[in-house]
Amino acid sequence: MKAVVWHGKEDVRVDSVPDPRIEEETDAIIRITSTAICGSDLHLYGVIGRPFMREGDILGHEPMGIVEEVGGRAGERLSPGDRVVIPFNISCGDCWLCRQGLQSQCETTQNRDWKKGASLFGYTHMYGGVAGGQAEYLRVPMAHYGPIKVPDGPPDERFLYLSDVLPTAWQAVQYAEIPDGGTLAVHGLGPIGQLCCRIALHLGAERVFGVDHVPERLALAQRFGVDTVDLKGGDSVPAVIRELTGGRGVDSAIDAVGLEAEAGPVAEILQKTKIVPDRFGGLVAAARSLKRGGTLSITGVYVGAVPLAPIGELFDRQITIRMGQANVRRWTDDILPLLTDGDPLGVAELATHRLPLADAPRAYEIFQKKQEGAVKIVLQP
Ligand SMILES: NC(=O)c1ccc[n+]([C@@H]2O[C@H](COP(=O)([O-])OP(=O)(O)OC[C@H]3O[C@@H](n4cnc5c(N)ncnc54)[C@H](O)[C@@H]3O)[C@@H](O)[C@H]2O)c1
Ligand SMILES: [Zn+2]
Ligand SMILES: [Zn+2]
Repeated sequence: MKAVVWHGKEDVRVDSVPDPRIEEETDAIIRITSTAICGSDLHLYGVIGRPFMREGDILGHEPMGIVEEVGGRAGERLSPGDRVVIPFNISCGDCWLCRQGLQSQCETTQNRDWKKGASLFGYTHMYGGVAGGQAEYLRVPMAHYGPIKVPDGPPDERFLYLSDVLPTAWQAVQYAEIPDGGTLAVHGLGPIGQLCCRIALHLGAERVFGVDHVPERLALAQRFGVDTVDLKGGDSVPAVIRELTGGRGVDSAIDAVGLEAEAGPVAEILQKTKIVPDRFGGLVAAARSLKRGGTLSITGVYVGAVPLAPIGELFDRQITIRMGQANVRRWTDDILPLLTDGDPLGVAELATHRLPLADAPRAYEIFQKKQEGAVKIVLQP
């Protein structure tokens, strides 16, 4: 089969690789019909290299498709021909942590050698070294629990984002604990930030502010009722947001920026000269745009030991912080009705590009460089 394979920094290729096979009774094999590229994939495409990635690793963790084959136990829940979306984290569904709704920490698939949580599709050897879903076929471990069955009829893109973007944004909004009629600032208007804004408004936030510097991303958020703050304006973002909220700051803030995707020596110079914004500055601005006693929800990915925001200031201002990878299956039953009864979150308007799998190298490049208006790219094997 064909698959998108990691070869090194900014080097992905579409290679011929062996077809996956059933290895465990909890496995299923899925024929992929749509598979998205994620902001998180850019971390791997950019700075996260060896030994976390190895040449030959198959990328991708946002796939959906049709069940082709099932192992014995997976067959108790799935049958060939079922239409399914595959969550990016691989979880067993019945360990102590899964039963608490902490599927991203699953004790069955945890990576103890690396001191990391549940295994992920296509996301480094720290997270299990599992072959990813930017491919024609995918072996799905824990298929007796993970795959989300979706109805036939609507196009793939209605359901595809259940794999990651929708539950990630949903969790970020839940963790932000916006009070009734409260205000929210979303820092970073990539796909995750866009959906955080839409979900918060849908669930009753009074006012949502969105911060970014990319014109088409600001414009997209405005179309969904978001008050935008352009980083290029040059003013201090927390000062602007405080001014817009009676001098107090927002009740809740979400960091949907993350650190590594634009990092690296070139980005560092551009950041120092303020040609592109400092991504870590997004997290600090999110913390500082909050009212005293507010809640910061961090959904952007951070790895390593960056000394976290000004801890003394957060202590003095009594800020609550929640963060972490999305516990996908914890939220998918809550989200599914918003996809089957019309499209109130406008997910059909998220993808800017639909490309054949063979175009993956170009897709990664334009997505990383934010060229051609790329916000979300869906590959179709
Ligand atoms: N927690 C999870 O489970 C989970 C799941 C998926 C993705 N993520 C992470 O969420 C983050 C966002 O994902 P995405 O796909 O939307 O990525 P993205 O790279 O498309 O979006 C990030 C946005 O932040 C903007 N930005 C950069 N610096 C900024 C600053 N200082 N202030 C405000 N905005 C700034 C960029 O212009 C961009 O539009 C990534 O770090 C990704 O890895 C987390
Ligand atoms: Zn993703
Ligand atoms: Zn588990």
